[in-house]
Amino acid sequence: MNPKISVKNLHLHYGDFHALKGVSIEIRPCRVTAIIGPSGCGKSTFLRCLNRMNDTIEGVKTEGLITIDGEEILHTGADLIRLRKKVGMVFQRPNPFPLSIFENVAFGPKLHGVSGPKKGGRAPSLEEIVEKSLRAVNLWDELKDLLKDSALRLSLEQQQRLCIARLLAVNPEVLLMDEPCSALDPVATLRIEELIHEMKKDYTIVIVTHNMQQAARISGETAYFYLGELIEFGRTDRIFTSPEKKETEDYITGRFG
Ligand SMILES: Nc1ncnc2c1ncn2[C@@H]1O[C@H](COP(=O)(O)OP(=O)(O)O)[C@@H](O)[C@H]1O
Ligand SMILES: [Mg+2]
Repeated sequence: MNPKISVKNLHLHYGDFHALKGVSIEIRPCRVTAIIGPSGCGKSTFLRCLNRMNDTIEGVKTEGLITIDGEEILHTGADLIRLRKKVGMVFQRPNPFPLSIFENVAFGPKLHGVSGPKKGGRAPSLEEIVEKSLRAVNLWDELKDLLKDSALRLSLEQQQRLCIARLLAVNPEVLLMDEPCSALDPVATLRIEELIHEMKKDYTIVIVTHNMQQAARISGETAYFYLGELIEFGRTDRIFTSPEKKETEDYITGRFG
């Protein structure tokens, strides 16, 4: 099977600081890939490369090759608006806009003039897109009568689901999640993990987590990063039961990190 995302010899510098050192990895479609490693090892930096979010940071230099569906994304002419629609990102703290629930989900489709897959030749209405997106994150039933309420009044878990729905509304193919449960309690965390499990049939998901149980529960493949290098990558069950590298073993057995 062709990889969804292929990264070859990726280097990234913040000014003089060498933050990613020759990372090569192939990420399979419709799988959950977990990125683990101690704080500061480059997990977020790596994730941000995949939709060129590091471009917004001054003094960043990126070298190497990243292709998504065979299309190179690092070249200067890449269409970043299209890329970020296709490759959406969820952050540690949910960041809904200070708008109504409806307007949060409708925001992307309105901005891009995006319409969902056409049913019978007709583009879906904004209302239909909002409903479909909220259903996909299991929020529709609880929020359908509150669509005009401010998104900021929702619980943190609901806000994070809403942020995912906001991405789904513009038909992404890849979801990047940077410690999406770190602001949530354990019960909410498990429910978001269930959602990730449901979504993987339709989306390629790359998730950064510092929670090794979480990586073991939800991912098919795991990548262990340390000091800007990809130390080991493979099937999650194998990484957690018989890692090949001593550094990986030390980390997953809690000897450091
Ligand atoms: N905007 C930035 N400018 C300079 N250095 C940065 C910046 N962002 C991250 N770094 C550095 O790059 C390294 C990797 O950071 P990061 O990707 O955030 O790690 P992680 O997500 O694994 O905790 C760290 O040493 C961090 O201090
Ligand atoms: Mg991080």
